[in-house]
Amino acid sequence: MNTEYVIRTFVEYFQQRDHRRITGSSLLPPPGDPVLFTTSGMHPLTPYLEGRPHPLGRRLVNVQRCLRTTDLDKVGDTTHLTVFEMLGTWSLGDYEGPRSLGWGHDLLVNGFGIDPGSLHATVFGGDEHCGPDTGSLRTWEELGVPVELTTDENWWSNGPTGPCGPDSEIFVWTGDTPPRSTPTGDDRWVEVWNHVMMRHHRRDDGTLDLLPQPNVDTGLGLERLTAVLQGKRSVYETDLFEPWLRSVPPLWQLDEQSLRLVCDHLRSSVVVIGDGVLPSNTGRGYVLRRLARRVLTTLWRGDPSRTLGDLPEELIQHTLDHFRQPEHTGRIRDVLLDEERRFTRLLERGRSILSQPRFATPLAEDDYAYLHDTHGLPRDLVRGLRTGTVG
Ligand code: ALA
Repeated sequence: MNTEYVIRTFVEYFQQRDHRRITGSSLLPPPGDPVLFTTSGMHPLTPYLEGRPHPLGRRLVNVQRCLRTTDLDKVGDTTHLTVFEMLGTWSLGDYEGPRSLGWGHDLLVNGFGIDPGSLHATVFGGDEHCGPDTGSLRTWEELGVPVELTTDENWWSNGPTGPCGPDSEIFVWTGDTPPRSTPTGDDRWVEVWNHVMMRHHRRDDGTLDLLPQPNVDTGLGLERLTAVLQGKRSVYETDLFEPWLRSVPPLWQLDEQSLRLVCDHLRSSVVVIGDGVLPSNTGRGYVLRRLARRVLTTLWRGDPSRTLGDLPEELIQHTLDHFRQPEHTGRIRDVLLDEERRFTRLLERGRSILSQPRFATPLAEDDYAYLHDTHGLPRDLVRGLRTGTVG
């Protein structure tokens, strides 16, 4: 069951249930959108969740690439990626949550062959703004899937304002020994599919309105599901990362966590550049810069002579092909190498400035401000240079 098979099975299942496939968008939201990157499959659909009729109807399915920086510090574990793909379905004021959960259960069990006994669900238990999600609770009880009720963990929104609602998450057991507890207490329960009953809209003052129509917005993590189906311990062991884990270890010897970070961040950088972003000190470009510099910092910790110039072209091409990006590998490499050169120069300057006697003692706020404003040395970099954890 490789990734392409998982995508095809998912899309066809919903097409057979009258969903129309929409084309996934790039990582860049439309102009005027407040977020830097598309963080969820629903993001490009916000106007339609708020009531505008969608040209392809009220049942949609797609595969959307997403980028999340909120999980950057978790990258290196077995399930978190910076750029990942979300298999999504939407009911725009059409069917309701219980039907969506029923299809979700059917596809996981009968379509993908997951043991129904290894599933667990979580459901919104209610808070001061909104009552418990009894529809989802009843559905899981009828299907014989155990449920954990939570509040904060089961309320989904894409930002402080806008469409939101209670959600129900489906977890699959991946442990070798029996669970210690329900999903919130044992991370061997891996969350694969989130079904959001998107009925509300949060206003600036925090209050909730009902949307003109009750929607269902679901997102299934492609890489996580594939890892579960392939019986792999981590998303990095799936076919998606196979060329990376084949080519990177002989090139750069890294511990497991660093290897995962390097592969995730480089692959994410390729996709971000492929979607038209260049490194810079603000906005999207800054996210890209951070990704590239985290890779370089990790590589140079082991051996300062390592260079992104050695990154095999095959890995860049594999990534561009997977995301169907028409960019040339040579250009991606040029952007990464240019960033490497800039970072090298910055570190050289930083080291030389920090070796001055006035910086021999612990730094005060004024010193950080001076180093930043006069020499362009950010606080994190200065700290890293002083503790030997960068460059
Ligand atoms: N929008 C929901 C999520 O991203 C499905 O989890």
